[in-house]
Amino acid sequence: PRKIIIDTDPGQDDAVAILLALGGPEEVELLGITAVAGNVPLPLTQKNARIVCELAGRPDVKVFAGCEAPLKRKLVTAEHVHGKTGLDGPVMADPTMPLQDRHAVDFIIETLRQEPEGTVTLVPVGPLTNIATAFQRAPDIIPRVQEIVLMGGAYFEVGNITPSAEFNIYVDPEAAQVVFGSGAPVTVMSLDVTHKALTNRARVEAFRALGTAPGRMVAEWTDFFERFDKEKYGSEGAPLHDPCAVAWLIRPDLFSGRRINVEIETEGRFTTGMTVADWWGVSGRAPNALWIREIDAEGFFALLTERIARL
Ligand code: BDR
Ligand code: CA
Repeated sequence: PRKIIIDTDPGQDDAVAILLALGGPEEVELLGITAVAGNVPLPLTQKNARIVCELAGRPDVKVFAGCEAPLKRKLVTAEHVHGKTGLDGPVMADPTMPLQDRHAVDFIIETLRQEPEGTVTLVPVGPLTNIATAFQRAPDIIPRVQEIVLMGGAYFEVGNITPSAEFNIYVDPEAAQVVFGSGAPVTVMSLDVTHKALTNRARVEAFRALGTAPGRMVAEWTDFFERFDKEKYGSEGAPLHDPCAVAWLIRPDLFSGRRINVEIETEGRFTTGMTVADWWGVSGRAPNALWIREIDAEGFFALLTERIARL
């Protein structure tokens, strides 16, 4: 299995990403979860990460708290999508499993130094603050990263927090610039692809029909999460953004994309946080990312259901 660290700000879709990773031990070995501020402030994201591990019956997973604010900006949160707790929907008890003492950034640095070079994959599905801080503090770890598979950005789809920016990149564009400019191999699950992974009745009912606690919770989280997209955009369901990043590690055949250059706008008057994706190669800038655009949505939801059934 590929060794991974999930860097996350749960978030209902983050929670599903964690469950998917825990349901696929043949393909991915979860070394730890690093929480970052994003959808909600850090005290809630680190707590939510532990709630999800306990739900999966895995209180042994190491959860670390990381950065509580972006590199240079004030934190922007998304309670309007995820609710006050970040995991609104079903009522969940407080977790009893411990939070690790070490800072998430130290865990990322130490893990990349300890494990053999090229064997650890980072899976950031929130703002990129923890990853960028680790890269700035310990540049020696950058060439040791196997791959960064992140959820963030938008190009053919419009933004979801401003007209031109996707939430994770918008919250900490300077951090995104560090990551995209690092030279490490980056695979990007942007809104261009996650907006093709929409829930619908049949897909949510398949989770509920599992009859297990994780299956029921995923259905209830999705019910909550959907209401925003339904009310705001009139769409049938909600995109399950973050699990796309984990699914890529289990079933890359479900996706397709192109190696292109991606730059992050950090100074735009209206476009701060935009991922400028050079799909047609008109800039002459060297490719620095694999930009995913297509997904087999049926296959993706079948994979989710099958793996959540194992928990
Ligand atoms: C991203 O923002 C968050 O609200 C979601 O968890 C996802 O990571 C989508 O723009
Ligand atoms: Ca997220």
